[in-house]
Amino acid sequence: MQDRQIVLGVSGGVAAYKAADLASKLTQAGAVVSVVMTESAQEFVGPVTFEALTNRPVNDDLFTPTEHYQGEHIGLARLGELLVIAPATANCIAKLAYGMADDLLSTLALAFTGTIVVCPAMNTEMWSKPAVQRNVEQLKSDGIVIVEPGEGWLSCGTIGAGRMAEPAEILLTVERELNRTTE
Ligand SMILES: Cc1cc2nc3c(=O)[nH]c(=O)nc-3n(C[C@H](O)[C@H](O)[C@H](O)COP(=O)(O)O)c2cc1C
Repeated sequence: MQDRQIVLGVSGGVAAYKAADLASKLTQAGAVVSVVMTESAQEFVGPVTFEALTNRPVNDDLFTPTEHYQGEHIGLARLGELLVIAPATANCIAKLAYGMADDLLSTLALAFTGTIVVCPAMNTEMWSKPAVQRNVEQLKSDGIVIVEPGEGWLSCGTIGAGRMAEPAEILLTVERELNRTTE
């Protein structure tokens, strides 16, 4: 994964804390990791954590680009070889399914031509909703790679489906997808 350009999208779920571990693992594997956070994600984990782990600026605002002055949705879409969204909220998944573009992450996802990997994370009730399952099926048929959530302890105090895949599993998927696109 040495010097591969990865964009890590972080949306607003409790599993955002696990995204920090993923950012660290990707960086340790040699990747250049550019983090994009939604406004809600920053309620859970601060950008400074990701900046320290990746040694790169965090991007969070469509209209305040940090490095690319034609907009980070264009700059990062051109730079990134793979976009991994972890955690992906129900809201984020719905926006991807409908092609909505009302913040940096969703606009970037629309402009992105490389592989997109989505890692859903939500409580069991949300994950079981027909609307969420429909949207996930839509993403799959659009060619987006889904890292299925597992079953386990959820922060709402229950045990069930919807828990985000572990960072080590997401890392393996990212490696596999990067290798597939360079074969
Ligand atoms: C404590 C708390 C935990 C949340 N956890 C999740 C979650 O795990 N998954 C999810 O889809 N939404 C979760 N939400 C709701 C999202 O934060 C909310 O839908 C938000 O609008 C998502 O915005 P984003 O998709 O732009 O990041 C949570 C909200 C709160 C207050």
